[in-house]
Amino acid sequence: MDRINTKDIKAWNAEYMFHPFADPNAIAKDKPLIIEEGRGALVFDIDGKEYIDGQGGLWNVNAGHGRKEIIEAITAQLNKLQYYSLFGGTTHGPAIELSKLLVDLTAQEGMTQAFFSTGGSEAVESAMKLARQYWKLAGKPERTKFISLHRAYHGVAFGGLSANGTPAFRQAFEPLMPGFFRTETPYVYRNPFTDDPAELAHICATLLDRLIEDQSPNTVAAFIAEPIQGAGGLIVPPAEFWPLVRKVCDKHGILLIADEVVTGFGRTGSMFGSRLWGVAPDIMVFAKGINSGYVPLGATMFNARIEQAFRKAENAWFMHGNTYLAHPLACAAALANLDIVVKEDLAANAASVGGYFLDRLNAMQQRQPHVGDVRGKGLMIGVELVADKKTKAAFTSDDQFGAKVSKRCRDHGVLVRNIYDTFIISPPLILTRAQVDRMVDVMDEALTFQTRAYAKG
Ligand SMILES: Cc1ncc(COP(=O)(O)O)c(C=O)c1O
Repeated sequence: MDRINTKDIKAWNAEYMFHPFADPNAIAKDKPLIIEEGRGALVFDIDGKEYIDGQGGLWNVNAGHGRKEIIEAITAQLNKLQYYSLFGGTTHGPAIELSKLLVDLTAQEGMTQAFFSTGGSEAVESAMKLARQYWKLAGKPERTKFISLHRAYHGVAFGGLSANGTPAFRQAFEPLMPGFFRTETPYVYRNPFTDDPAELAHICATLLDRLIEDQSPNTVAAFIAEPIQGAGGLIVPPAEFWPLVRKVCDKHGILLIADEVVTGFGRTGSMFGSRLWGVAPDIMVFAKGINSGYVPLGATMFNARIEQAFRKAENAWFMHGNTYLAHPLACAAALANLDIVVKEDLAANAASVGGYFLDRLNAMQQRQPHVGDVRGKGLMIGVELVADKKTKAAFTSDDQFGAKVSKRCRDHGVLVRNIYDTFIISPPLILTRAQVDRMVDVMDEALTFQTRAYAKG
């Protein structure tokens, strides 16, 4: 078949494809940008225009685009074996090697086993199923409930969806699963309690404790949370929060699940988000940065507590898994990607370039009347835009302020994601300071431009 030409590709854009997280009518009018190539922290559109990939694909391209080492590993694996099943007594080398590497990398957190899937949502479901079966094996089958945080994002399958803390992500699909409960997130910039981060951490941990008491601890399977909340608005908890959460979980014997789909593998400036807070969860959920998005992959890791419950029981089958879990190409990509992450110390680069990024954004906040808050760790940064800095009043949805600023950044060669007027900055972890400068200059100009337009009304 002849290669379809550029003209057709442009004409068919958003005509036949139903887009994720989109209003089909809106997207038909304002068509998505067609990305054609990627190199390092840059991507190029179908007309050859260059952009800094400030969103890192979808906060997953940690090692950067077009990495030869990863492409060669995938190609070599493809030439050898494109697929084989992990069901019913067969396996393959890349999955075995990757499971050992992941257990080594998470030794500090005490993970002893890896279970694979094809992405973050599935990895969350695996975590929830492991938690429920663990309690059945432990002789406490009534421990079935899950608690999560407001503004949490745990993917799109029904378990994770039921745990999600942003109503807009859930409402169209109700009724959701029973037995899911949410508690306050320690959102320093906006909360009804206090401006003191440490105090807020204690208040939120106490509210979690109370919710568990209210539900009866004997009915709760696990608490699930992101070490830094992502899609719910990039919320960085105070340093005290996660250690307190671990204590509350231990007090009630509840499993702690860290959803590290975004925070895993260097993004926060630490290898893992849990490590950033000095906490060892019982289950860690990975996807995205595990292989920088070269081939879909998810992994759910768990500790000896859970492993032993399965090993000690007779016939404790884990009746869960799907065809493409631990796909050989995805595992080969992960092995090559994690080699880069470790050898190039991408966590350290994220910490230092991310620190520089925050400094520049903080300076920008001083002169920009609509930048309410700048927050982040490593190269996971949020910039919250507000109509009024003093009152923290949000823009109305008619204003489309963030969307317009983000569009102007895009026109000037910088891709940043706008979620409800919070810019989400999550570039590849190989980003340079010169690229930070370019990104901030473009964002600054776009904000100034849109501020003038907003003032005119
Ligand atoms: C914290 C978290 N968990 C789970 C998911 C779902 O992952 P996926 O989109 O690969 O299914 C995401 C996706 O952004 C995420 O941010």
